[in-house]
Amino acid sequence: MTTTTKPAAVTVRVPGKINLVLRSSARRADGYHSLATVFQAVSVYDDVRAELAEPGRFEVHVVGDQAVRVPAGPDNLAVQAAKLLASTTPDPEAYGCSLTIHKTIPVGGGMAGGSADAAAALVACARLWGLDVSPDALLELGAELGADVPFCLLGGTALGANRGDHLAPVPTRGTFHWVLALSEDGLSTPAVFERFDELTPDGTEPLEVGAPLLDALAAGDPVALGRSLANDLAPAALSLRPGLGHIIDAGLEAGVLGHVISGSGPTVAFLVGDDTAAAQVAQRLTAARVADAVRVVTGPVAGAHRVGI
Ligand code: C5P
Repeated sequence: MTTTTKPAAVTVRVPGKINLVLRSSARRADGYHSLATVFQAVSVYDDVRAELAEPGRFEVHVVGDQAVRVPAGPDNLAVQAAKLLASTTPDPEAYGCSLTIHKTIPVGGGMAGGSADAAAALVACARLWGLDVSPDALLELGAELGADVPFCLLGGTALGANRGDHLAPVPTRGTFHWVLALSEDGLSTPAVFERFDELTPDGTEPLEVGAPLLDALAAGDPVALGRSLANDLAPAALSLRPGLGHIIDAGLEAGVLGHVISGSGPTVAFLVGDDTAAAQVAQRLTAARVADAVRVVTGPVAGAHRVGI
């Protein structure tokens, strides 16, 4: 690890993700599930600003509508990311930082909000502290923090294997248009996987995402993509949150091309053909009052990246 010039503050923007397909094995001996998933980074972002603090001092402030729902102490995944990065240096005691997270990605929404902040903190602190860390080394550190952190670093559209942390970029054409139906009350990922274990003790066999979805992405064909969206965790999320069924019904009535619960939910992603359709579906969903918030986004977008000076 070599050092480069150190700025006084660094801001990194990081997107949330949706899972276009998620197939899951039965629970493994290590408590995780092997996945075959396709992630897509979409245009809902957190910004993480890192400023130098005295050595050994790690603090975090969270701002935005959902700030109160994010831990602002050592439990915060962004702080853990900064500490983990410092621990990999020859002189871990020499580093400190103050992080400010501008939170927009839904908290507990199945969109990797916490993982996104960890990814952003890794990129921001590496630059802040002048550490020359390779992209592969960052991905490895990310995987230690959480299964979704590597994807938040990578962005775009990617196949995820193992816990979702072994990634391979997926070729896509053009931009896909999504309408997200958000729920204020998050779902706990471990609780959804536990319910999945009860409902599907053997998991999915074979564990693969399927060629039609990959072909639809490569062709930039939203109609074909809409037919291929699938999530093995959906029955578990629906059983814990039956109201999601009303959201899905309202989207279907509004004429979407497809729908999928993202990750462990409760965010529902509706695929539409273009931005006009997105505005119409968003209006219909808002009028139906089935979701706490509705947001129009596009994907794929870039992973964690520096913004500003
Ligand atoms: O890795 P992360 O901390 O984000 O995962 C949160 C929880 O989600 C894990 O503790 C586990 O219960 C569940 N999980 C899983 N299999 C995965 C990813 C997450 O069982 N592939």
